[in-house]
Amino acid sequence: MTRRRFSIAVSAVSALSATRVFGANDRVRLGLIGSGGRGREDWGTFLKQPDVDPVAVCDVYENFLNQGIAMSADKGRATGHKDFRRLLDRKDIDAVIVATPDHWHALMTIAACEAGKDVYCEKPLSLTVAEGRRMLDAARLHKRVVQTGSQQRSGAHYIQAVKLIQDGTLGEVHRIHAGFQRNIFPGLKPADFEAGKLDWDMWLGPAPKRTFDAFRAIYNFRWFWDYSGGQMTNWGAHHLDIARWILSAEAPLEVSGMGGRFGLTDGGETPDVQEVLYRFPKATVLWSTSEVAEGKTSTLDIYGSKGMMSLTRAGYNVYPETPKGSTAPAIEAMSMKGQDLNAPHARTFLNCLRSREKPTADIEEGYRSAVMCHLGNISTRLGRSIRWDAAAERIVGDDEANTWLARPYRAPWKLS
Ligand SMILES: NC(=O)c1ccc[n+]([C@@H]2O[C@H](COP(=O)([O-])OP(=O)(O)OC[C@H]3O[C@@H](n4cnc5c(N)ncnc54)[C@H](O)[C@@H]3O)[C@@H](O)[C@H]2O)c1
Repeated sequence: MTRRRFSIAVSAVSALSATRVFGANDRVRLGLIGSGGRGREDWGTFLKQPDVDPVAVCDVYENFLNQGIAMSADKGRATGHKDFRRLLDRKDIDAVIVATPDHWHALMTIAACEAGKDVYCEKPLSLTVAEGRRMLDAARLHKRVVQTGSQQRSGAHYIQAVKLIQDGTLGEVHRIHAGFQRNIFPGLKPADFEAGKLDWDMWLGPAPKRTFDAFRAIYNFRWFWDYSGGQMTNWGAHHLDIARWILSAEAPLEVSGMGGRFGLTDGGETPDVQEVLYRFPKATVLWSTSEVAEGKTSTLDIYGSKGMMSLTRAGYNVYPETPKGSTAPAIEAMSMKGQDLNAPHARTFLNCLRSREKPTADIEEGYRSAVMCHLGNISTRLGRSIRWDAAAERIVGDDEANTWLARPYRAPWKLS
């Protein structure tokens, strides 16, 4: 499974990938695929932008499909589709939001790129490393703007924090601690929905066939390996993305994960306690998550030789260090309040769609941050440390671990 094997032949340029040139007054014609919790949140954010026309909504759950359509009523009522391929066939759509469960992100994003649409794909970008590489290749081949839904990258205080750190304000940074903790003991319950209105086979798509399970559908797919990767890919995809951005690093060299489903009894599979330690050339990053004890909810602590920054969605605070032998702190205390992340992220996508520039949460960043999460889960599930060769996109000297970089798809779905 080398980089070459993941790649799509670059000569096969699609005739459909010609890019519409937007005039200043032209509106962006938008479609939504996956009108669930986050999809409707994204949809609402985009609908508030003055230059967006809602054209179509797709969902396999009728009630959410209708809710997505109803949201667009004030701006020209989108039409509904139950099959995303029919939405992508339409020539009157410039861009799509993909906000389905993770196991659908790759197929839908690649098909949208092939159909000449720009894509806003929710995080985590992919379910596997192999999928992410194919998605990135498709975006580049078809010259699409593909932005990952990592809205923290567009938040003013995250941008300012990363700039401060990269300018050396905290001194040398060799250690970052990221985490997400909550207490949902003894577990979650199935979402309240009408099962008869959900097309379960199309919800499963490329995932293994199984009889309908109300707990897996809607929101709780996150806790099952066939569709997602637990808090590692849910919140980890947000915070580790910022950690990697701070370090200006492509990928870790070594990953060591531990954890398990120790306390929750709701039938989910992913760890409820997990610690993953990443080694970069000159730094370590620790990811900690707990579903069974909250303590401090959200953590992104960046430790520098002159001070420590605590960075969350609420804002950042810098706590100065006093150098050895000195009585004065090395830097001044600083802070900034957090602001809305979603509207600026939508705006970034729309601006890039017009300028054809790469967004800050370009698909390549989403891909690399998802790889970090997937490696954390692979190490945890195997119960041993792994070493990563980012150039070859292979786990070093571990054939068994390398088989985890991709998953088989259920026919007729194929990763092209
Ligand atoms: N950026 C963020 O802060 C953020 C927040 C929450 C969720 N997310 C991401 O958004 C995605 C969706 O999460 P959610 O919480 O909204 O889940 P959800 O279960 O509420 O919504 C997913 C929707 O996708 C639909 N769907 C499933 N298969 C489909 C198909 N083949 N065609 C069309 N629709 C299909 C489902 O019916 C459901 O309505 C996940 O990848 C998640 O990680 C991102």
